Amino acid sequence: MKQPTEIKSADGKLGVLLPGFGAVATTFVAGVEAARKGLAAPIGSLTQMQTIRLGKRTDGRSPLIKDFVPISGLDDLVFGAWDPIPEDGYESALTAGVLNRYEHLDPIKDFLSSIEPMPAAFDKRYVKKLDGSNVKAAGSKKELAEALRQDIRDFKEANGCERVVMVWCGSTEVYIRPGAVHESIEAFEKGLEDSHDDIAPSQLYAYAAIMEGVPYANGAPNLSADSAALEALARREGVPIAGKDFKTGQTLMKTILAPGFKTRMLGVSGWFSTNILGNRDGEVLDDPESFKSKEVSKLGVLEEILQPGMYPELYKDLYHKVRINYYPPRGDNKEGWDNIDIFGWMGYDMQIKIDFLCRDSILAAPIVLDLALFLDLAGRAGMSGIQEWLSFYFKSPQTAPGLYPEHDIFIQHKKLKNTLRWMMGEEPITHLGVEYYDD
Ligand SMILES: NC(=O)c1ccc[n+]([C@@H]2O[C@H](COP(=O)([O-])OP(=O)(O)OC[C@H]3O[C@@H](n4cnc5c(N)ncnc54)[C@H](O)[C@@H]3O)[C@@H](O)[C@H]2O)c1
Repeated sequence: MKQPTEIKSADGKLGVLLPGFGAVATTFVAGVEAARKGLAAPIGSLTQMQTIRLGKRTDGRSPLIKDFVPISGLDDLVFGAWDPIPEDGYESALTAGVLNRYEHLDPIKDFLSSIEPMPAAFDKRYVKKLDGSNVKAAGSKKELAEALRQDIRDFKEANGCERVVMVWCGSTEVYIRPGAVHESIEAFEKGLEDSHDDIAPSQLYAYAAIMEGVPYANGAPNLSADSAALEALARREGVPIAGKDFKTGQTLMKTILAPGFKTRMLGVSGWFSTNILGNRDGEVLDDPESFKSKEVSKLGVLEEILQPGMYPELYKDLYHKVRINYYPPRGDNKEGWDNIDIFGWMGYDMQIKIDFLCRDSILAAPIVLDLALFLDLAGRAGMSGIQEWLSFYFKSPQTAPGLYPEHDIFIQHKKLKNTLRWMMGEEPITHLGVEYYDD
């Protein structure tokens, strides 16, 4: 990828389009509006709160990221969504039950109610546990993709947007292995015309976005833009893409802890993770085929971080198990238990237990914001195709073919910040530090 020589201005409105207007999407939109009104802080968002060091530690240059790179301000964001369930933003946020109605939803009720989801490109075969009435009339997949493209153009015009980005916040679709239809742009476009079974709705949104020059991120584990065909299309159209599956909850903890064990050369013989959650996402994941997509996304993490091939004595016998249990009383307030069996000096074993009383959508919302702003930045900087520097935000980062993904959150974080420095013509920071000890 070429170093950007010029980054176009962030002026004007930035449309953020969200396929899926459930718990994560409404928590994100409500949080941005609350931040704009000074009612809550955008905690967890790097674009809003984090600083970035430039130059030497002694230089004293550590601006906020938002003052260093030209990204849109929160006041310039406008939101649109698609969902098969016809609830507006206020109703959907109430259903999701993440945010407190009186403290956080009622004060911005008019704003939330004004966002009504557009009819979705939805097919129950790909999300078996859902039913919805707000769907586009069935046509060929090509026709559905064209209808989505028209929605994007209409939204952009109606809202006077300079640019648009899209972040998939829709349900997890059934597991689909990349097949022949995903191998090239031509095969994919032929598949659209033939309404090929292996093209799920999320792939239609990704295709429509890329064709409209709209950067696309996928917050769920299903394929969506993660195929040779859509990667090639993104490069051809000069559009940045990123995925998959927002890194929140248990996987966030895993990618924080596992690098720690490995750096200290501690062995891990078992890692058992189980969750109870009762939101709509939990219900969708109760279907084994949707769970399969999630399981594949969650299981890869430890293997990639611990590298058992390189450290067989420490990790080759690691037993890794992940369970998700739908348990309605918990709503969005998931509880995740981890039992980790580790061993140290001379093979002596130890155990670590984690009980994470987590709020998934609270962890996911700032990720949606950062992805929207960073993908728009990447687009204006002329960067296209897979944006590996955004791996930080994903459970199952998309990478160039043949390249293993980097899951270690600390490496991902350095990569993200160094990419920002690189984009702006600043020196990357290696943390070598010998220059401070010159004679
Ligand atoms: N909550 C988290 O922290 C988290 C973390 C990682 C990934 N995710 C993923 O993000 C996605 C959203 O999670 P959530 O908790 O908001 O779930 P949710 O069930 O509350 O919302 C998903 C919404 O997507 C809609 N939808 C389904 N198919 C659609 C389609 N074809 N077009 C448009 N809309 C469609 C559903 O009707 C639903 O309203 C899920 O795939 C989930 O697995 C969530």
